[in-house]
Amino acid sequence: MPDLDIMSPDAIADPQGYFANLRATRPVHWDPRYRSWLITSHRHVIAALRDERFSSNRIEPYITKKLSGPDADPLVRQAFEVLSGWMVFKEEPAHHRLRMLCSLAFTPASIAALRTRVEVLCDSLIDAASARPAFDLLRTIANPLTSTVIAEMLGVPVEDRPRFERWTLDVQPLVSTGLDDPNRYEGIARGMDSLVRYFAGQIERYRAEPADNLISALVRANADQDRLSDAELMATCTLLLFGGQETTANLIANSVLALLRHPEQRALLCGGQVDIKTALEEFMRYEGPGKTVIRVAREDFEFGGQRLRAGQRVFLMLSVANRDPEAFEEPERLKLDRGAVRHVGFGLGSHFCLGAPLARLEAGAAIPRIVERFPNLRLATEALQWLPFISTRGLREMNVVAG
Ligand code: HEM
Repeated sequence: MPDLDIMSPDAIADPQGYFANLRATRPVHWDPRYRSWLITSHRHVIAALRDERFSSNRIEPYITKKLSGPDADPLVRQAFEVLSGWMVFKEEPAHHRLRMLCSLAFTPASIAALRTRVEVLCDSLIDAASARPAFDLLRTIANPLTSTVIAEMLGVPVEDRPRFERWTLDVQPLVSTGLDDPNRYEGIARGMDSLVRYFAGQIERYRAEPADNLISALVRANADQDRLSDAELMATCTLLLFGGQETTANLIANSVLALLRHPEQRALLCGGQVDIKTALEEFMRYEGPGKTVIRVAREDFEFGGQRLRAGQRVFLMLSVANRDPEAFEEPERLKLDRGAVRHVGFGLGSHFCLGAPLARLEAGAAIPRIVERFPNLRLATEALQWLPFISTRGLREMNVVAG
């Protein structure tokens, strides 16, 4: 096996190409450099996502191992304690309870009701961008769209947005990178502390005076007298904040990039031969923003012909699985009318992305509007830089010329 490095420039630029051989020859592979299993085939990724021996709880062991000593920075510990309350890191039955209570507030109907607002926001961001000959699609349209939508949903007042966004940006690397490096946590922890204090105030405010927003609905959510505690409310607000912003913005940018590189597919979408709902699933498969999800082996067990040991880390490489020729015909081709795409870009099983309807709504509004409003849109440069993150497939910036 050649010397693989998941963080090498080649792997970051083209993970699907870089791991194609590994997927075909050793779909369950021990990576000694990062001391982690890499699972790359569609079949094995699906099996692992459905298998409870792959635990989602990787935060609590980290807190116990690295952040429990007297030298541990209390703010770093606090940041990890917030994360440890995220349902995405919970096991059953705690996970089911949290997800169910959260689903009472974050309902498909409450998301569908946002459609008009999301469309108006897209149009006004595109109007503002169209005043310039060239712009960064991420900074000008995709990021402001997804951050405004979630801030409005949570009920963050307009005057608080600039500082709220600053703290969010400070904390984002904690969520995106996926590799443990305690040294980089200090700045992030201060951002999380500001967010925690801010949300504590908002939770108190909306508990006293409920309004038409997600925090009020989460505070009210109640099943058989069971409610979310303050710590759980805090965890859920921060998860919804971080779960959906960067990911959905990257889906928009990655999809527009795919269309710029495949003009015949762009023509199909603009000409109405394929609807955006169908196209979105192919965008998720082809260049979805969720690159990897992480699990920890709960016990010693056999999987894919390999012996996993309790406590070992596992990377489920969604984007590599989404180009598996055993699961998809001509996987390297973007085919917007592919239909019934069994991609794993939103995960699968009990932790399947709770925000998928919101992501589909936002990207489904933004992508067709962008390509229709800018018929001559092109990249300002072919030299694109992909983020050096394990979990996220996204560009650092996407400079385009309106044409
Ligand atoms: C294109 C955009 C998105 C992608 C690619 C994405 C991807 C994912 C993936 C892969 C998972 C499963 C994680 C795992 O199994 O460990 C997940 C879970 C989750 N996502 Fe998303 N997500 C997106 C948008 C959103 C949005 C907009 C929200 C909400 C605002 C959101 C909230 C969540 C939540 C709460 C979970 C945890 C579900 C659970 O543990 O039961 N996501 N997402």
